[in-house]
Amino acid sequence: SIPVFTTIQAYRQWRQAAFDGKHTVGFVPTMGALHDGHLSLVQRSLAANDLTVVSIFVNPAQFAPHEDLATYPRTLPTDLEQLSRLAHPAPHRTPSAVFVPAVSDMYPSGITQDVANQKGTFVEVKGYGEQMEGRSRPTFFRGVATVVTKLFNIIQPTNAYFGQKDIQQGLLLRRLVGDLHLAHPTPAHLHIVPTARDPSTGLALSSRNAYLTPPERARAPAVYAALRAAATQWHSGHSKAHSLAAALGVLEAAAQDGGSEGVQMRVDYVEMNDPETLDIVPDGDTMASRESKPAILSAAVWIGRTRLIDNLILGDS
Ligand code: PAJ
Repeated sequence: SIPVFTTIQAYRQWRQAAFDGKHTVGFVPTMGALHDGHLSLVQRSLAANDLTVVSIFVNPAQFAPHEDLATYPRTLPTDLEQLSRLAHPAPHRTPSAVFVPAVSDMYPSGITQDVANQKGTFVEVKGYGEQMEGRSRPTFFRGVATVVTKLFNIIQPTNAYFGQKDIQQGLLLRRLVGDLHLAHPTPAHLHIVPTARDPSTGLALSSRNAYLTPPERARAPAVYAALRAAATQWHSGHSKAHSLAAALGVLEAAAQDGGSEGVQMRVDYVEMNDPETLDIVPDGDTMASRESKPAILSAAVWIGRTRLIDNLILGDS
């Protein structure tokens, strides 16, 4: 079975021995409640590295006080079972180690979600965490950047794998790794892997999908459908404003259908941003005026008490 390390010290002893053998180490950080999206990252890592390490850590610093830290799904036994069932060809069938640290080990100075009263060291990536998700969740990326810095220092990966599902997180962490020269050899290579979706509805897989009631689950695929509708408009030459209106139309229709079943849907945002700067694409821009430069089309939608996000990269299809 896969060795599971629950202390930093035990992992480091193992990592030191592995490093002496000049192995490449692939790393997949997660918060657990593993689904096929997570497993696709692990598969990528298994295929390209001598060793693969998966971490499972629900990071308090990235949850705001009103968010779902207490109820976030924690399913360690089934997570480990899924990892040990991965059917990758030998010799890299399964991950080499799973790192499941305690909160007190990861945050030796302590951690509170009350940002004003935090003590200790935090990492901020200026210019990439204020837009999109950062506007709705102002302390989220500070928590992510902080925990990923800690994890990279501990794991010392050669390659690290992130999902396009959280595209802003991936782009921001690329900056972080470059700016701080993180991991071995510096900087670690950060890979962004396409979003895994439910094969029949296109709904992006997410640990938070587990929160959805059956009628909410029935409406959730509207998020992806809305992005697809906007992408169609964009690719046929329409402006950003026109394309986003198409997405909002799909979401409004779904909200109306859901409303009759008691499902509350509310759009947080639908937006198009430049993948380099994360600047909002001007309303009048078209694919032609951008000279086919890629754009991130992303959405965040509340369905009941669950916030779902999804995105497409336009212009590279
Ligand atoms: P978590 O939400 O568990 O996601 C772990 C990794 O899986 C992230 O890189 C995420 O983008 C990727 N992922 C999630 N759903 C996916 C899908 N449907 N297809 C492909 N990849 C998917 O993201 C986090 O945890 C945390 O912020 C973390 C980076 C671990 C820091 O705490």
